[in-house]
Amino acid sequence: MTASIADNLLTWYDKHARALPWRVPPGDPRPDDPAWPYRVWLSEVMLQQTTVAAVKPYWEKFTSVWPTVFDLARASEGEVMAAWAGLGYYSRARNLVKCAREVAAREGFPETEEGLRELPGLGAYTAAAVAAIAFGQRAVVVDANVERVVARLFAIDEPLPGARKSIRARAEDITPDARAGDFAQAMMDLGSQVCTSKAPRCLLCPLAERCEGRKAGEPEKLPVKPPKKAKPERRGTAYWIENGRGEVWLVTRPGTGMLGGMRALPDDGWSAREDGSGHAPVRGETERMGAVRHTFTHAHLTLEVQRIKTLDTPRGEGTWWPVETIAEAGLPTLYAKAARLALA
Ligand code: ADE
Repeated sequence: MTASIADNLLTWYDKHARALPWRVPPGDPRPDDPAWPYRVWLSEVMLQQTTVAAVKPYWEKFTSVWPTVFDLARASEGEVMAAWAGLGYYSRARNLVKCAREVAAREGFPETEEGLRELPGLGAYTAAAVAAIAFGQRAVVVDANVERVVARLFAIDEPLPGARKSIRARAEDITPDARAGDFAQAMMDLGSQVCTSKAPRCLLCPLAERCEGRKAGEPEKLPVKPPKKAKPERRGTAYWIENGRGEVWLVTRPGTGMLGGMRALPDDGWSAREDGSGHAPVRGETERMGAVRHTFTHAHLTLEVQRIKTLDTPRGEGTWWPVETIAEAGLPTLYAKAARLALA
């Protein structure tokens, strides 16, 4: 009998699995620790659209400040948003608190993929990943790495996103019943370490012999991506408002939109022109400090920074924050850059 794709891959993973803080070594049983599903869930939420290197320090911080889902459920949204600052895609942090509260109310994580899908913020990927890794359930886990591996393995040359249906069907075919968590993570490791996007290292690949994409000659061309849309350019102004007592005026961004719920410098309403006053919330001696550039998923932004000295309290809600401890304010990267410019 020839070995299955899963057998080949798991044998490779037994030797080459990355050691990651939220992982057990290949073949080890799942830890008998009530916080284990929480640790896995947290890692999977953080790893969406974000590299392992960027996630590691945040995962360490979160699990030391909030060691269990019940601790996180008791945290305020503001504390969690501040701890998430710098990791990006802030709707994840808002959903994280909601989900933790829901899990605490249920006294633990549901153990099936369907049950996990009912939790706030858990999409198909996260539910499948947590079911497989935290609970050992057979689940078809498809992220961008897995998509790439499967498209190449079966030479699926239909462009994305249309190809997703056949990719999922093939991923379903090769997913084993046993070692579900190891298999999912082996696919991710293979995708990120070997079957890389631009220059796949086929000589190191445990599946090279059976890879149709490699046989066809140009595995790096798969999966076929749709043409990239140009991102629109946006402009705005942020205000660094100082009161002469070593404090700066910070606001909390409203709602669930761009950077919603995050602490920020006041601005002219660049992200919601229809509500934006276009003016600073206070008058004072104004100095233009230059501009910072930032790229979001859907746009590039050039944000001009103006420093204003005033003795008045600005309009609207906000707080005076000591400039000395601005690093602890939990500013997302865009405003951290603007703060650096204002202080330069
Ligand atoms: N990316 C998303 N989840 C992952 C995991 N569990 N291991 C490695 N990379 C990942």
